[in-house]
Amino acid sequence: MNTVVSLRREERPSHRPTDFSRDVQAGLSAAIKTLPAKYFYDRHGSELFEQICRLPEYYPTRTEKKILRNHAREIAAIIGPDVEVVEFGAGAAEKVRLLLDALDRPAGYLPIDISGPHLSAAVAPLRRSYPDIAIRVVAGDFTQQLPLPAPLPQARARVGFFPGSTIGNFTPDEAQDFLRNAAAMLRSGGGAGAGLLIGVDMVKDPAILHAAYNDAAGVTAAFNLNLLQRINRDLNGDFDLDAFDHYAFYNPGQQRIEMHLVSRVAQTAQVCDQRYDFAAGESIHTENSCKYTPARFRMLAEKAGFRPAAMWTDEDSLFSLHWLALPQA
Ligand code: AVI
Repeated sequence: MNTVVSLRREERPSHRPTDFSRDVQAGLSAAIKTLPAKYFYDRHGSELFEQICRLPEYYPTRTEKKILRNHAREIAAIIGPDVEVVEFGAGAAEKVRLLLDALDRPAGYLPIDISGPHLSAAVAPLRRSYPDIAIRVVAGDFTQQLPLPAPLPQARARVGFFPGSTIGNFTPDEAQDFLRNAAAMLRSGGGAGAGLLIGVDMVKDPAILHAAYNDAAGVTAAFNLNLLQRINRDLNGDFDLDAFDHYAFYNPGQQRIEMHLVSRVAQTAQVCDQRYDFAAGESIHTENSCKYTPARFRMLAEKAGFRPAAMWTDEDSLFSLHWLALPQA
């Protein structure tokens, strides 16, 4: 059974142009200028991110895939048979193949993504590969409480999948909110056995982190600068992209990579008829990518109501994959 679930208009939270312009205006008006990282992912930004995932310096994607492959049997055993996999922010919906291949009789796949058309296109090949799995697409913002379609009669429980350490792009408080929301959505499947399989990037040698976010080919720099390009295109902006530098560094106190765009010179940029002044060297903070020790992540998960039950990592302890069981409410 293959269904597309479309949320009603009022249930469809999205990055409407009004949200985008409001967020950009608020971020650029603040004493310390910021822009929300969620706006990186227009069409070009998503392509650049896919290129980042293939870069030699960017270890998270290939390391997480390796962990999934190496521990597929154990992961399948702990999750058990007949589950519906709910993927938060499915994007290209590729890594989930490793999970679906490993699981015993997966009953369904419910990817959630802000971009409905993109998601429908991404799951088309999955529908061909897994004709026996009920695939239902949900277009919406998974950081909000989304109403999910009714549980499948053939599914024992809902199991969340949140790979890629996207949780690292939230502040710890936002991560807490996400986990609480995810718990509520997963419990909506009823039955025992719900949980969340989540990829989390680990605290490590800052030199490895620095290389991953300052790649030699300059793809991460282009990804960061594309945010200004998007503002120019969608919000009638006039940012001079050559007048800003990509700047990424590890902040050890906060255990996070910070990405910034730094103004090379004193300049003024206009967005939606509003002028913003930049001093030479002033930055726009565009992204945090938090890194976690296993203990710190487990604490966060426990506070959100999960029971951390297993963790797998690679031989260099670069990346971790956690199974968070969800006790029945
Ligand atoms: C999507 N997210 C987990 C990436 C990260 O590593 O924080 C986004 C990214 N930013 C720069 N490179 C990759």
